[in-house]
Amino acid sequence: MSTISLPKQSAMMRRDFIYGVATSSFQIEGARDSRIDCIWDTFCAQPNTIEDGTHGDIACEHVKYWRQDVDMIADLGVDAYRLSVAWGRVMNEDGSVNKAGLQFYIDLVDALHAKNIKVFITLYHWDLPQYLEDKGGWLNRDTAHAFAHYTDIVSKALGEDVYSYATLNEPFCSAFLGYEAGIHAPGKTGKGNGRQAAHNLLLAHGLGMRVLRRNVPKSMCGIVLNFSTAYSASESPEDIAATRMGDEYHNHWYIQPLLEASYPDVINHLEPHERPVIEDGDMDIISEKNDFIGINYYTRAVFKSDGNGWFDQVVPQGDGLTAMGWEIVPDAFTKLLVDLNARYELPPIYITENGAAFDDSEVNGEVPDQPRIDYFNSHLRAVDSAMEQGVDIRGYFAWSLMDNFEWALGYSKRFGIVYVDYDTQKRTLKNSALGYKAMLNHRL
Ligand code: FCB
Repeated sequence: MSTISLPKQSAMMRRDFIYGVATSSFQIEGARDSRIDCIWDTFCAQPNTIEDGTHGDIACEHVKYWRQDVDMIADLGVDAYRLSVAWGRVMNEDGSVNKAGLQFYIDLVDALHAKNIKVFITLYHWDLPQYLEDKGGWLNRDTAHAFAHYTDIVSKALGEDVYSYATLNEPFCSAFLGYEAGIHAPGKTGKGNGRQAAHNLLLAHGLGMRVLRRNVPKSMCGIVLNFSTAYSASESPEDIAATRMGDEYHNHWYIQPLLEASYPDVINHLEPHERPVIEDGDMDIISEKNDFIGINYYTRAVFKSDGNGWFDQVVPQGDGLTAMGWEIVPDAFTKLLVDLNARYELPPIYITENGAAFDDSEVNGEVPDQPRIDYFNSHLRAVDSAMEQGVDIRGYFAWSLMDNFEWALGYSKRFGIVYVDYDTQKRTLKNSALGYKAMLNHRL
């Protein structure tokens, strides 16, 4: 077995580079009875939404096993743990606080702290309370204000013991997959819906940042965005133009407003009724200064013209794909980071998610996941190369700590570095977890 390693002289082998593992609430917690319903509960209950017909009621039963999970995180030797708070576990429908739910996170943060593990909180990783969806969800700008209120409650309770707060995880997925393509909760469709949801999410981010600045000025506050590096299917001017549009629509739509208070040019290609309603002052709120931006990277996206002035995405074919059907392209990761750094005045960057799903199985207590080890090796090198080219990257989080509910694909896709047997909830360190641990122990 080859293991995970980086050259000794790499800046990523210095102790001040933060390594972690990441999860999110709905994907691991279970314990549905002790929180209010969220849009994913509703979505999972609808036919033909989740590939294997599963849901998040039980998941990894992390609410039950959290102490053992914290021990496991500590045993890996990571510096940090990125988790998300379930909005509907800390707040009730009538606006009151769910004290037991909030206490769960207070205890979790304390336990991580006691083990010297930095806590990276994400406030919103897609589990919007259903009662807010019933009022329009992210199509209703009141949801952005509700988010600011929820942010106030959580940040006052967890305070500056939390090293870093991110307002949102991947607003692209919430807006595009949830309100435009309809493949994530709440399953709405249409460009107009997608764009309005994206705008209201970004507004929620800006309003949330203002609350965080007031409540936790010493914590590092920002947002987590996902990117798939855009490549053109051919050298034809049509495909190149389509690629630019795809890149703007899926990637820059979320970062340009944050850093430059404007939407990319592709907005002008939308029909007037598809454009978001932008009120006076919104772009100022959205472009509130960030202490960091988290970048999630998994793969690249290849675009071509749809022959109609818009873009299509090419579905990857062939061997060498992950279990998600995603291409493994570490060079595209370096290119993404270097290009963003050239294009924008970036704050410090954390790689808040990176990893791959493969069809793992446990054999006599061992999970030989060499393809995942190879993926981590090549992608850690990709980050290292971006740092050598001047990108200010401060940390790296493996997605994910353990196998979990992979949204519309249910439990069929395993992203963990720890294997979860869903019948027994037994956790087994995969060889990639052992390799990660070994690399972390070799740091200077
Ligand atoms: C990201 C999500 C995360 C996980 C990975 C595979 O888009 O943030 O929850 O599902 O993809």
